[in-house]
Amino acid sequence: MSVGTVLITGGTGYIGSFTTLALLDHGYKVVIVDSLYNSSKVSLDRIELLCGKRPDFYQVDITDEAALDKVFAAHPNIDSVIHFAALKAVGESSEIPLEYYRVNVGGTITLLRCMSKYNVPNIVFSSSATVYGDASQHPGMIPIPEHCPIGPTNPYGRTKSTIELVITDHINAQRNNLKKAGKPYEHWNGALLRYFNPAGSHPSGIMGEDPLGVPFNLLPLLGQVATGQREKLLVFGDDYPSKDGTAIRDYIHVVDLAKGHLAALNHLREKNPGVRAWNLGSGRGSTVFEMINAFSKVVGRPLPYEVVERRAGDVLDLTANPSRANTELGWKTELTLEDACEDLWRWVSNNPQGYRQDPPKELVEAAKAAAKKSA
Ligand code: NAD
Ligand code: WQD
Repeated sequence: MSVGTVLITGGTGYIGSFTTLALLDHGYKVVIVDSLYNSSKVSLDRIELLCGKRPDFYQVDITDEAALDKVFAAHPNIDSVIHFAALKAVGESSEIPLEYYRVNVGGTITLLRCMSKYNVPNIVFSSSATVYGDASQHPGMIPIPEHCPIGPTNPYGRTKSTIELVITDHINAQRNNLKKAGKPYEHWNGALLRYFNPAGSHPSGIMGEDPLGVPFNLLPLLGQVATGQREKLLVFGDDYPSKDGTAIRDYIHVVDLAKGHLAALNHLREKNPGVRAWNLGSGRGSTVFEMINAFSKVVGRPLPYEVVERRAGDVLDLTANPSRANTELGWKTELTLEDACEDLWRWVSNNPQGYRQDPPKELVEAAKAAAKKSA
């Protein structure tokens, strides 16, 4: 099947920038809309350095229907959307839930309305393993399959499970309405991608996660401990019923995650499955202590930590059963958490200021040479 033009919301952010790169590498044209609320336009330069192509970019808030409408009007070839734009701080979502519902749910509704108006039938949505909540409560649900009961434990997670329902209802309605009218309907499709714990950076060392403000995920925090920006890691609880008492997660390299979007998009466009959920994870669970050890090994010295109370809302085990994505999408993780640690360390040690500094010249030259070779 031919490649097309894809609109990516949140495309300058962490996972969005890696997915943009994967799509451009595979011949897709990409149009990004992002408000830059939690990202920088510098990521566009890094994408261009790595693949020799630059996506179109619009600084647009997805809740602004008039502005979004103009982007669709200017790009009549868009046939699919990959939707990342969202607020994602779990703790903050309990403090300002209405803002989370306004941006995440309201923004998605605005996006779907534009997609309907401009006849854009495919949506790939950034959902999260957080929609499962505490899967260890249900017998036989670890590793977690897609049919595990949904039960998020915080407002952020509830915006994700709500959006899954909104997309499902909308795509099903589009299909049913067209079917009733005797028109082709199979081209309306949706992928609900439930990511486990994204981690790592680009192996070139020039593109990675650069959140504005204080990070709250384990690996970026460990990165700050390693660079000396943070004194020690606080380990949230060592009294879980796991092998070493710390909680278990399925860390997935962001480069693999980006390829998962490409696989899902191609599947929607080629196989027309309607709406379907897929877990994107490795199937390998790792404890917090195992992650500290893996990252310390890469850094070459033990990283300081202190065990404190459990963090509210944390669950024992979020490990994916990724077989559905493996068989249906023909996708599986190829990189390990050790690769993610190595790549993260190359990124943070060379770019402690993230995108607010230039990367070392030798990394830029190596990236340019690699891009030229693969062109
Ligand atoms: P990110 O913050 O780096 O990317 C989100 C992007 O959306 C940012 O560039 C931000 O500026 C943009 N954005 C926010 N509000 C916007 C708005 N109103 N209009 C337009 N743009 C807006 O986060 P990420 O880690 O790349 O996450 C991408 C998606 O994946 C999010 O939907 C997130 O909920 C989901 N997700 C992330 C993780 C994770 O651990 N990183 C796990 C599961 C799911
Ligand atoms: C991983 C493990 C912590 C920080 C979150 C969201 C989820 C998804 C991914 C968006 C846990 C422990 C962490 C620290 C620690 N995001 N930890 N000390 O909580 O699995 O998932 O990000 O969709 O929705 O909830 O990821 O990286 O915060 O934590 O001990 O300072 O590390 O308790 O066991 P989490 P995380």
